[in-house]
Amino acid sequence: MNQTDLRLSLLVELNDEPGALEKALGIFSRAGVNLTHIESRPARGQTFDFYVDCEGERDDPAVARVLAELERTAVKVLVLDRQVVPWFPRHVSELDLVATNTLDAGGALLADHPGFQDPEYRARRAEIDALARSYRYGQALPRVIYTDQETATWRTVYERLSALHERHACEAYRRAVQELAGDCGYGPNDVPQLATVSDFLRVRTGFSIRPTPGLLRSRDFLAGLAFRVFFATQYVRHQSKPFYTPEPDVCHELIGHAPMFAEPAFAEFSQEIGLASLGASDVEVERLARCYWFSVEFGLLEEGGLRKAYGAGLLSSYGELAYACSAGADCGADTTHKSGATREAGVGGGEAAERPAPQYLPWDPEVAATRSHPITDYQDTYFVASSLIDARMRMQAYCRGLPRPFYARYNEATERIWVDRAVRRQPVQT
Ligand SMILES: [Fe+2]
Repeated sequence: MNQTDLRLSLLVELNDEPGALEKALGIFSRAGVNLTHIESRPARGQTFDFYVDCEGERDDPAVARVLAELERTAVKVLVLDRQVVPWFPRHVSELDLVATNTLDAGGALLADHPGFQDPEYRARRAEIDALARSYRYGQALPRVIYTDQETATWRTVYERLSALHERHACEAYRRAVQELAGDCGYGPNDVPQLATVSDFLRVRTGFSIRPTPGLLRSRDFLAGLAFRVFFATQYVRHQSKPFYTPEPDVCHELIGHAPMFAEPAFAEFSQEIGLASLGASDVEVERLARCYWFSVEFGLLEEGGLRKAYGAGLLSSYGELAYACSAGADCGADTTHKSGATREAGVGGGEAAERPAPQYLPWDPEVAATRSHPITDYQDTYFVASSLIDARMRMQAYCRGLPRPFYARYNEATERIWVDRAVRRQPVQT
């Protein structure tokens, strides 16, 4: 932990007289102690309080000088306990502590997984799972030599989706895919390596990819976004069901997610959610995870009077992509299409299904944060933003209003999170 990570919180009571606050703050500046947060309280009779967070600790010589002088001039000075908050990574390397904390069975597979009865697939999953589990910050990302069968599955998915992307993907996505094709060889013939795509994104928006064996807790996954790190799986779905996967796989990550992280407004949008999640309560993290779901996974944009997808859950699902973008006659973000039905192929590529048209709402994180959603079926509601910049601004406004224990900022040069208050992290949950 370096010096700038340390914070001290003080409560100072001053006589309510002109210039009192300025004089008190001058004590900090003369001692060279940096203030990170100030909050004043209304006067109570002859005195008033202010809270201040500053860099350093009680026994630092400069801080000790400040305390001594404040004690001489103020009515009262209290050194406050640090607020205890849920653990969060302060440096990008600390993502190592949560990166393998998966919610699902990982390489073990659940009984309803298409590959559950396939020992060869399970062995392959275990192999790729081990690569993600042994990865540590600073190492080169593991490269997987994909088998012919895995490449064939990728090709089937890629070709089917790219035809639909022409019509239904937002412009930023289509532009990024073109660049990825030129720079990283994106296309149907090979499964791209996470390392290659990560390098591509890093140059464009500072986002990078790190491997994960499977689904992470929302808190851990969102924390990665605060550092502009996207956790991605590296295995390929089972070949028996190329258009269905019960979990994220490399097709979902690289076809659905990765291109959007090349777009600056989307990168900022994603990081905003991540920063707001740090140290937040479980309730707030859940609300942010819902915002993530309805935007980064299933978000729509209005472009040229049409609905276009920017969410990865749509961009990597041919059935739901057409369903979400085609239902109803026009875009109208505030239009609710409740009547009529749309016919389309099921997720598994099987029989067509009758479905009522979904509901479309204008993108509003306040609403999205409280909305429940299906996980294994098509969404019944999609949020439509007027642009990626609008989506980001609304997300920023929402995050500003959250009851957050501190304000966090990411320092790209040091790869550390800067916080403005004195907080103590609970032990990490593993
Ligand atoms: Fe996803």
